[in-house]
Amino acid sequence: MKYSIAGLAGLAAFATAQGTWPSDLVGTWSTKSNKTLTGPGFFDPLNDELIEPSRTGISYSFTDDGYYESAYYRAIANPTSPDCPGGIMQWQHGKFVKNADGSLTLEPFKVDGRQLLSKPCDGKNAIYTRYNQTETFQKYEVLTDPYHNIPRLNLYQFDGSPVNPMYLAFSPPQMLPTSTLNPMQATASASATGKSNSKRGLDPEVPLGWKVELEKGSTQQVVQHINADRLWWLGLGMTGFGGLLYMGPRRLGIRL
Ligand SMILES: *[C@@H]1O[C@H](CO)[C@@H](O)[C@H](O)[C@H]1NC(C)=O
Ligand SMILES: *[C@@H]1O[C@H](CO)[C@@H](O)[C@H](O)[C@H]1NC(C)=O
Repeated sequence: MKYSIAGLAGLAAFATAQGTWPSDLVGTWSTKSNKTLTGPGFFDPLNDELIEPSRTGISYSFTDDGYYESAYYRAIANPTSPDCPGGIMQWQHGKFVKNADGSLTLEPFKVDGRQLLSKPCDGKNAIYTRYNQTETFQKYEVLTDPYHNIPRLNLYQFDGSPVNPMYLAFSPPQMLPTSTLNPMQATASASATGKSNSKRGLDPEVPLGWKVELEKGSTQQVVQHINADRLWWLGLGMTGFGGLLYMGPRRLGIRL
């Protein structure tokens, strides 16, 4: 007990010296569709699976003691077949701090992050990998949205360009445990006992079998398999929507 209190005090002193954790950031924030949300509805660390939301979006959660979690689900334009966009899901969590110049630095637990990239018209497999990306936001603003009359978070990327506005969805935040999850270890020991395939290892490629799953009448919301039909419809709706790709290539270094 004594030890952990001393540890916390040490952490707080460090934070005061290096930056702060502003209380107005605390909560779970989500873009307008409010369907992509951090927490167990987006990433299942026990089964090591990303769970597809019903709508694309972005969500960030922040605690008052320096932890964050982020969830992304974005469509990716497909220039060679515009009617068949790909999709990408990313999940990360870790520690954040507000720096003296007002910027935010988000440092993920590198082994925990996950990405699922699906380009259904370029091949039948979605690619599931580890993912880690430190993020810096030049500044942020929390204000009351004049139209919706709810708290709104404006984040600005390192170059000053705005991220789509996010609205407060939960306070306190809805998050997975803020300690490192490192589901790889659980997976490794499960397969070492030769017990089952239910705790899948982190295969680099996951068969894009969502249709089969649906036909079998699985009640599970399609997990780890991005729904190509849904993305197709989204692609139609997003024509000309300039914000669509703002995160894609820069964050991911993907070739379109
Ligand atoms: C973090 O990402 C970089 C760049 O993709 C990669 O080289 C590195 O291995 C990753 N680290 C972990 C622990 O996954
Ligand atoms: C967003 O969704 C959550 C969970 O369904 C709900 O509790 C919350 O009120 C919603 N927020 C907005 C702004 O619609």
